[in-house]
Amino acid sequence: MDRTRAYISSTGMYFPEKKVTNDEFAKTMDTSDQWIRDRTGIAERRFSAEGEVTSDMSAKAAMDCLEKGGVDPSEVDAIIMCTVTPDMFFPATACLVQHKIKAMKAWGFDLSAACSGFVYGLATGTQFIESGRYKKVLVIGSDTMTSIVDFSDRATCVLFGDGAGAVLLEPSPDGEAGILDFDLHTDGSGQEFLYMPAGGSLNPPSHETVDKGMHFVHQDGRAVFKFAVKYMTEVSEKLLERNRIAVEDMALVIPHQANMRIIKSISDRLGLREDQLGLNIEKYANTTAATIPTCLCEYHREGRLEKGDLILVSSFGAGFTWGSVLFRWGI
Ligand code: UT7
Repeated sequence: MDRTRAYISSTGMYFPEKKVTNDEFAKTMDTSDQWIRDRTGIAERRFSAEGEVTSDMSAKAAMDCLEKGGVDPSEVDAIIMCTVTPDMFFPATACLVQHKIKAMKAWGFDLSAACSGFVYGLATGTQFIESGRYKKVLVIGSDTMTSIVDFSDRATCVLFGDGAGAVLLEPSPDGEAGILDFDLHTDGSGQEFLYMPAGGSLNPPSHETVDKGMHFVHQDGRAVFKFAVKYMTEVSEKLLERNRIAVEDMALVIPHQANMRIIKSISDRLGLREDQLGLNIEKYANTTAATIPTCLCEYHREGRLEKGDLILVSSFGAGFTWGSVLFRWGI
């Protein structure tokens, strides 16, 4: 192989302590544990503590990743911070994380691709390693969804949770393990199905935007469901075909964790066995950019990944944005 391959050399994660069960929602609104479990596969989620924000969770996940990988923050070259719930519009949350973890030589930027943030970030970070320009790139997927959900809207508030996951990308030591391929997509005509209308230049914050709840997540759940199944299946099939990899040879497929029924539909369409499917939705709900890196980290920590394993991650989110990344495990 004549180019440098990027591989995931470490993983990290952080979830806030506060667990919120479905029954908690049933106390204040017309919903039930049964409905939420049956329609989404979610049993509980984590909520950040008062004052605990995206950069805090991200810094904890990043430090966990670096400590487990035996890398000092001063060695990190770049931080790609994937989030739609930044601490502030600016400065970028990447700057705040850089400061919190004391990654003094790292530069960084925020990447806004909603639930596809981590997949976009992984593909982007790979380019910096493959080009030979950088040796250590942190990719963080982190969202404080509780800061943007409407807790009076039962159709959205039960779906989300807070959390952060991180991976470190480095040049593959053997040239075999690492990112093999990826395929990314955007279709802005999907903007109307999942969005937060106010807060930006289109609808600057005002009493009116707040009164109308325009600073919350708005979603056409049924439409998003349909597109998510179609596009995550298509892009994953395409990637496997392009790399001549049979579905049965995959060790693990981690789809974005938005709804267990979406995941099951994709799994059925791809023909996956149960043991090939990466899941953490039941415990953490939809943590947006954090679902895939936290799930990968958990499987890694639980000793469920072996060197040489073929892994595919796939996402779909607001934009619309979607994509998959295929890699060979190398830790
Ligand atoms: O992260 C990426 C983006 N997000 C997604 O991928 C989410 C994709 N969509 C979904 O996961 C599902 O569409 C939802 C979980 C959001 C909703 O499930 P659904 O099976 O599509 O339900 P629905 O929207 O068709 O609603 C069915 C019924 C409605 O009542 P009526 O109109 O039939 O009387 C809703 O009002 O369920 C009602 N409903 C609820 N009932 C109890 C909606 N939310 C709740 C709730 N508890 N929390």
